[in-house]
Amino acid sequence: MIQLTSIVEVSNLTHIYKGGLKALDNLSFSVEKGEIIGLLGPNGAGKSTAVKLITGILKPTSGSVKVSGHEVSDNLDTIRKLIGFMPQETALYNDLTAYESLEYHAELYGVPKEQVGDRTIKMLELAGLMHRKDDLVKTYSGGMKRRLALVRSILHDSELLILDEMSLGVDVQSRNLIWNQVRKMKDEGRTVLFCTNYMDEAEALADRVIVIDNGRLVATGTPSDLKRQYVGNYLIEVLIEGLGANQGSEWLAEKVKLDVEKVSDPLNGGPRTAWIRSLEGHTDLPLVISRLSDSGLIVKQASMREPSLGDVFLAITGSMLRD
Ligand SMILES: Nc1ncnc2c1ncn2[C@@H]1O[C@H](COP(=O)(O)OP(=O)(O)OP(=O)(O)O)[C@@H](O)[C@H]1O
Ligand SMILES: [Mg+2]
Repeated sequence: MIQLTSIVEVSNLTHIYKGGLKALDNLSFSVEKGEIIGLLGPNGAGKSTAVKLITGILKPTSGSVKVSGHEVSDNLDTIRKLIGFMPQETALYNDLTAYESLEYHAELYGVPKEQVGDRTIKMLELAGLMHRKDDLVKTYSGGMKRRLALVRSILHDSELLILDEMSLGVDVQSRNLIWNQVRKMKDEGRTVLFCTNYMDEAEALADRVIVIDNGRLVATGTPSDLKRQYVGNYLIEVLIEGLGANQGSEWLAEKVKLDVEKVSDPLNGGPRTAWIRSLEGHTDLPLVISRLSDSGLIVKQASMREPSLGDVFLAITGSMLRD
């Protein structure tokens, strides 16, 4: 018997906004139960649009989204209870206190009446907001609102948590609190799908990342698989004097006999930095230095490191500005 484990199934999803902008273009991916997925992509890639379609806030132009086997647009009441959602734009009830806001949300999302009070207090404690619980939300700082939005999304104890830019504008302490909560959700066997522009966030939390660009899927895999696939095991960074403005990646690749990830733009003809992909690292580094010297270039500095998810992201999506 085939066991159905996908908690989210996005199939051939296209979304065209009023006015004609195609934000998603035939996007397909799935999320398995218990996974923590990081949805990455440049500004305007379609991450928020995708999660708004998964939560049923938007209706797709075509294609399908299923959550726990239910077609989202036909089962909005069921879906709402299955998902905890923290939107990118914190939409809170400004004229309520934090306590009232959570209490209202708990009732709306079907938390049993006798549990509402305890749950609300527990969430306020978790967010570190007990001392401000009777203040109006509009008097909160940005970070406090973000923490309140987080606990609001986990208040009704859903299987699937969707967080859109969870640490937007928060301090290091609040970010740690939010990250720890995500890890706790995973320990409890829940599923978390989060959108982020912060590569360290994806690196710290995601079991697997999905990269989209221009509304299309461009890569998916574990961070370490993507590093190997798109960059190599190591990245060699060399500061080179004498590398002319027209001597770019291709020219350099031929000299060092390895793939060149990129070469920095020259600053007033000064030294340029090159990033070279390497599988071996420790044996490639001296080779790169001697091949550069043989080509008449002066190596001012050389180092080697494992690639970060940020390197992978740039390798996949390029360095051009979007939106
Ligand atoms: N309500 C809307 N009406 C028209 N176009 C929209 C609307 N919302 C988003 N878009 C457009 O859809 C595209 C995708 O936007 P989306 O917010 O999904 O991107 P994102 O990946 O979440 O970006 P960011 O990293 O900046 O949050 C963008 O070109 C955006 O301008
Ligand atoms: Mg967004």
